[in-house]
Amino acid sequence: MTTNPNARPGQPTALVIGGGGMGMSTARRLGQSHRIVLASRSAKANEEREAALREDGVDAVAVECDVTDPASVAGLAEFVAERGPLRTLAHVAGLSPSMDDWHGIFSVNLIGTALMESACLGLAAPGSAAVFVSSSAGHLADPPAQEVTEVLDDPLAPDFFSRLDRLFTPEEQTPLQAYRLSKFALNRMCRRQVSAWGAKGARIVSVSPGPIATPMGARELDGPNREVKLALMRRLPIAREGTMVETADAIEFLASDRASYITGIDLLVDGGLVAATRPDPTSRVHGAYGASE
Ligand SMILES: NC(=O)c1ccc[n+]([C@@H]2O[C@H](COP(=O)([O-])OP(=O)(O)OC[C@H]3O[C@@H](n4cnc5c(N)ncnc54)[C@H](OP(=O)(O)O)[C@@H]3O)[C@@H](O)[C@H]2O)c1
Repeated sequence: MTTNPNARPGQPTALVIGGGGMGMSTARRLGQSHRIVLASRSAKANEEREAALREDGVDAVAVECDVTDPASVAGLAEFVAERGPLRTLAHVAGLSPSMDDWHGIFSVNLIGTALMESACLGLAAPGSAAVFVSSSAGHLADPPAQEVTEVLDDPLAPDFFSRLDRLFTPEEQTPLQAYRLSKFALNRMCRRQVSAWGAKGARIVSVSPGPIATPMGARELDGPNREVKLALMRRLPIAREGTMVETADAIEFLASDRASYITGIDLLVDGGLVAATRPDPTSRVHGAYGASE
């Protein structure tokens, strides 16, 4: 008997990275069956996030972590390791095109994600599952040239940016392009790492949402990429934005034991956007469709 309604000492640990709209809805959902460590960049917002989760009855602690800082990621991994085996990782953090520049978006969406994947692989145990939130944007444009893909496949190389920047003119180095390429590369990272996680008896997958009604989604509709996003949304077979609950459902399923034979895949949760935009995935794309968050 305890007087603390949030204490769930018997539940496994889930680490949720990113405390924005989708991160909080994922934490609430996973919090039904896990103790939650919510890691996000903003210390001030984290206090409020922890309080909100605890008010909902979740056994939650929110900690500051910048995924682009190797020391911060290592500190988080140590903190999680002290709490026992990591059952579930939901990596949700990311920047949309209007939030940073070419380097900034790659730093968070690809380099930071790869740092976290590497740290969490060290914590994985039989039955662990990692779910990385990507984007339909990674599917919507033609795959880049082989020489670009080779650089994207090695995001932790010390000369990553100098190699990448040489392959694009300054005009091509747009936030939108960085967003699309970083999510394309994130999907490839999950496929590439499938055997490493399998060797630990663990699984790794990605989820690619289409337009989802979150504060980030709203920001993109108000920002410089509004027309690109509206053009995409007009193509949605399910003619509305998705909800954070719909992405949390997919993440929870993929992390659960019901998905125990699913690994190395990317699940589109996009209202049919990619299928409608690229009915034949081998055909070339015309127009700037790689732009949704
Ligand atoms: N919304 C959409 O329509 C949509 C569509 C497709 C894919 N996605 C993807 O879904 C994910 C979540 O999106 P969202 O709509 O929930 O966005 P959001 O509300 O802006 O949340 C993103 C979170 O990422 C965190 N973050 C950013 N940089 C970080 C860093 N360096 N270290 C640690 N945390 C960092 C932020 O943390 P702080 O607040 O603590 O700074 C923020 O809370 C993103 O990966 C996004 O690309 C979104």
